[in-house]
Amino acid sequence: MKNPHSADTTNPFDFVLFGGTGDLSLRKLLPALYFRHCENQLADDGRIICVARKDLDTDAFRSLISSEVKQHIPEEQFMQNVWDEFVQRVFYLQIDLTTIEGYSDLGNMLAGREDHARVFYLSVAPSLFATICNKVKEAGLISAKSRVALEKPLGRDQETANEINDQLAEAFEESQIFRIDHYLGKETVQNLMALRFGNSLFEPLWRRERISDVQITIAESLGVGTRGGFYDQTGALRDMVQNHLLQLLVIIAMEPPVSVDSDAVRDEKIKVLRALKPLVGQHAVESTVRGQYKAGAYADGAVPGYLDNETVSDDSTTETFVAIRAEIQSWRWAGVPFYLRTGKHMESKLTEIIINFRKVPHSIYETADGFTAPNQLIIRLQPEESIRMRIYVKAWGDDMELQPVHLNLDFNDIFKKRQMIAYERLCIDIINGNQTLFMRRDEVDAAWAWIDPIREAWEKHKVVPKSYTAGTMGPAASNALISKEGLKWYED
Ligand code: BG6
Repeated sequence: MKNPHSADTTNPFDFVLFGGTGDLSLRKLLPALYFRHCENQLADDGRIICVARKDLDTDAFRSLISSEVKQHIPEEQFMQNVWDEFVQRVFYLQIDLTTIEGYSDLGNMLAGREDHARVFYLSVAPSLFATICNKVKEAGLISAKSRVALEKPLGRDQETANEINDQLAEAFEESQIFRIDHYLGKETVQNLMALRFGNSLFEPLWRRERISDVQITIAESLGVGTRGGFYDQTGALRDMVQNHLLQLLVIIAMEPPVSVDSDAVRDEKIKVLRALKPLVGQHAVESTVRGQYKAGAYADGAVPGYLDNETVSDDSTTETFVAIRAEIQSWRWAGVPFYLRTGKHMESKLTEIIINFRKVPHSIYETADGFTAPNQLIIRLQPEESIRMRIYVKAWGDDMELQPVHLNLDFNDIFKKRQMIAYERLCIDIINGNQTLFMRRDEVDAAWAWIDPIREAWEKHKVVPKSYTAGTMGPAASNALISKEGLKWYED
């Protein structure tokens, strides 16, 4: 069977990048497309048309990206001759996104290429989503092969997400809408599905009878930096839990789909989101921890606290850390706690999923650690991608003493090649029209439906964030949350 994400050359395309001079475009999207160009994966006449307000022409834009984008490509992976070829695909169009005139210039550039995949990638403020969709429709630019791709945040809650989705639906069919959660483009996230559904070993173990708890951590070492204005209105629950953390949870917990077809996969994912036990009122307060970092230090120096950030309001109660105890109400998972946590300015950058298996029912051996830690599957997405299985073996020597060791799958060692960045996979899938790794409207809706009552409970019960020192793993209350049922956060 053909791999839907295989490295074949893409369909011929026009990739219209709104917000072409923005941070995401320069840091992630253009480097991603460059890497795919290096792999000969972009169709020969595929064009990247960057659209923005800045007064530039194509030549000026090409020289701008030649210096800017280069900084985001590791030196050893930058090949000047290939880059020179790549920039020939890149065009620039200065338009005012809010008036129809500019769109007719875009129309002229796209004319006669209706048989090409036509991607409208909206790397712009969400307040512009509706305007751009209306205008491309009004200008008659939406062909049968058009698709629109958008970045989160998709709304602030279920209601505002619905408004955005309604506006999108006025211009595009659902099959043309690609809602991005870049975590789904990460190699290990896809490997998680491969591990579960490409091997028969794990399936019998993947259930409440064998698994005691699951822990998912997305820790960041950076603070909010210059994004304070946006972040202060958003907070970790909306910024990370509603999307990245829930998507990881869903991939761990979903039933096997009947195929890799995008709707087959997404039909299973939505069932998990709908089966999440609602966290409402006092129950939400008791099952969650909010935190906010205060000044602290890393090996390379001190960092200021969240409230010291000039772009953040002085008395802000926005959370930069969240821990949640979630449960999935299904035959497979009933009673198994899923602990989720994420935060800014934590000890280090680390994304990790821990599956804790139950202890042996009756131990006939002595172990140095008293079998306190059960068998574990440790799936690491960042900083390096690896999967490790913790098992007990007899240590060499006279004594019959068991010792935990790890079966190690380090993907860098195994594949010995450059690891793709998430946006490479996602850009190619958008061009080729494969929606598997993108969020369907009902998924976004179900995720907000679970998140909104948590936020409402925090407001109603006036839950203010507990402070934690930057450079640590969050407030003490996060350890207290998990220790209520005799567990502790995994530490390497
Ligand atoms: C983004 C959030 O979606 O993900 C950021 O808005 C966060 O706040 C980022 O820093 C983390 O992504 P990654 O891939 O660096 O883990």
